[in-house]
Amino acid sequence: MKSFIIFLLIISFKSIIAFGQGLFVNFVPFLTEKCNEEPFGIGFSILSGVCINNLGSFLQNGQKTSSSWYFEITEYEKSTIISGFNYPDSDCSGFPEVSRFVYGVECVNSPVIVPINATFSGYDFSSYYTHVSLSKVPMFPDDSVVRGVYSNADGSSDGSGDTCTFDNFVYGTVITNNLLIKYQFPFEYTDTYSCSSNGTAYINMCEENEKCLKKNISLECNSDESNGHTQIFCS
Ligand SMILES: *[C@@H]1O[C@H](CO)[C@@H](O)[C@H](O)[C@H]1NC(C)=O
Ligand SMILES: *[C@@H]1O[C@H](CO)[C@@H](O)[C@H](O)[C@H]1NC(C)=O
Ligand SMILES: *[C@@H]1O[C@H](CO)[C@@H](O)[C@H](O)[C@H]1NC(C)=O
Repeated sequence: MKSFIIFLLIISFKSIIAFGQGLFVNFVPFLTEKCNEEPFGIGFSILSGVCINNLGSFLQNGQKTSSSWYFEITEYEKSTIISGFNYPDSDCSGFPEVSRFVYGVECVNSPVIVPINATFSGYDFSSYYTHVSLSKVPMFPDDSVVRGVYSNADGSSDGSGDTCTFDNFVYGTVITNNLLIKYQFPFEYTDTYSCSSNGTAYINMCEENEKCLKKNISLECNSDESNGHTQIFCS
């Protein structure tokens, strides 16, 4: 009986993969090509099968780019292929740039999901590696600052309920503990993200290495944004 249930679970997981719906594509950053030490850098966990905007605005000073992403999961000759389509327009139209990952060959040179004009604890984005995985719930490395974006589909009939759960999770931007992001433009400043031992998310912003301001950026589920809820927390 037990093996029958497991068999059914595998079947349903397979069919979800085949339709490319409802799975999360997780990008976990590492400094070396084995992806086996402590995660370090910027990562994402992104729902497949939906058009996603503003993936990077959190780290681009709120500056909105018109480009959008769509992730699709397909089977090809017994391999699971994760395709990321980066469209020039916000509604996933236009001619996309395509990145493909074979599920199982998981440690790759970091794909540029979002161009951020900065260095990350002294490294360029391109010197990072990324572990790519699929899961039914979003996954983040421990002890990281996560900004989650959730859809408004919250299950309450009048739409008034503020819920941020894995059921309406759309994407998360993940910054590992103590990552220092150094921007040169329009002036030189740094943002360091951290998690305190009791799980509060902080940013320490410094101008020219002197004037610093440390702020609590933890945010409970809020619906200020017209097209969804956001939440900032430590994983
Ligand atoms: C990126 O930063 C450099 C300085 O490091 C600046 O010269 C350049 O204009 C910036 N590019 C954009 C697109 O903001
Ligand atoms: C978390 O720890 C900080 C000091 O590190 C303290 O100021 C704050 O009150 C604590 N917060 C909670 C919710 O326990
Ligand atoms: C940080 O901010 C959150 C949300 O406003 C609040 O719930 C929490 O108590 C704050 N924590 C600290 C340590 O100030």
